[in-house]
Amino acid sequence: MPEPVRNSASTAPDEEPDAPVVEMQGVTYQAGGKTLLDGLDLQLFSGSRTIIMGPNGAGKSLTLRLLQGLLEPQSGRVRWAGTAASRSALVFQRPTLLRRSVAANLRHALSVYNVPKPDRNRRLEQLLELGNLSGLRDQPARRLSGGEQQRLSIVRAMAAQPQVLLLDEPTASLDPAATAAIEALVNEAHRDGTKIVFVTHDIGQARRIGDEVVFVHKGRLCEQTPATEFFNKPRSTEAAGYLAGRLVL
Ligand SMILES: Nc1ncnc2c1ncn2[C@@H]1O[C@H](COP(=O)(O)OP(=O)(O)O)[C@@H](O)[C@H]1O
Ligand SMILES: [Mg+2]
Repeated sequence: MPEPVRNSASTAPDEEPDAPVVEMQGVTYQAGGKTLLDGLDLQLFSGSRTIIMGPNGAGKSLTLRLLQGLLEPQSGRVRWAGTAASRSALVFQRPTLLRRSVAANLRHALSVYNVPKPDRNRRLEQLLELGNLSGLRDQPARRLSGGEQQRLSIVRAMAAQPQVLLLDEPTASLDPAATAAIEALVNEAHRDGTKIVFVTHDIGQARRIGDEVVFVHKGRLCEQTPATEFFNKPRSTEAAGYLAGRLVL
């Protein structure tokens, strides 16, 4: 049985201690005459870093888009707890930044997310610091290195103060140093109380940052397992095959 990792210590006092921050119930998504996600049941709890793994085409990105509300399932539903102003923010593999300075990108986000005007300068400084971008604030965003652009994409998403930060292979095209900086940033957001849902097919990365692993294969959820257990002894034959380098599709 799937076993979500919980962290009741980080649950706000007015919330039910055991309510997931978001859950998918029997989510099925079809397109082009194919069933791409098939009856996904998934409970995500605040306080932990969830890794979504699975081979190419498994349905990982679709899962994030459904959580974000960019897509609607044909059947089943995505259920959020509470009435937070911002539920989730999604960061893609390739940054999509405005042709403006680093600071202007963040100011634009703070305005789009309706952060009250008197708070924006303070939030801007916090976000620049969080992304280690203070020294680059006046640089054109699109001339930054890939790693710097991705750090900006992540802190721009954090401008929304989302309950859940969804990251879709954010380091797939970065070198090890830039990847380490992204992982540090994600861990910082986690320490600040943001729920992390991170798609990667890098097993080393999943080991470094994951508290639990959700393994998806061919549009189905094979298992949801605490990370130490997952890497020691996955429960599904699909995940075992993937970790051994046998499962490619
Ligand atoms: N709009 C669409 N129409 C048809 N097929 C799609 C559509 N979006 C995604 N797919 C297919 O769904 C499968 C899962 O896609 P995706 O979630 O992007 O996989 P991944 O796990 O690699 O992120 C893939 O086979 C992809 O080609
Ligand atoms: Mg994908």
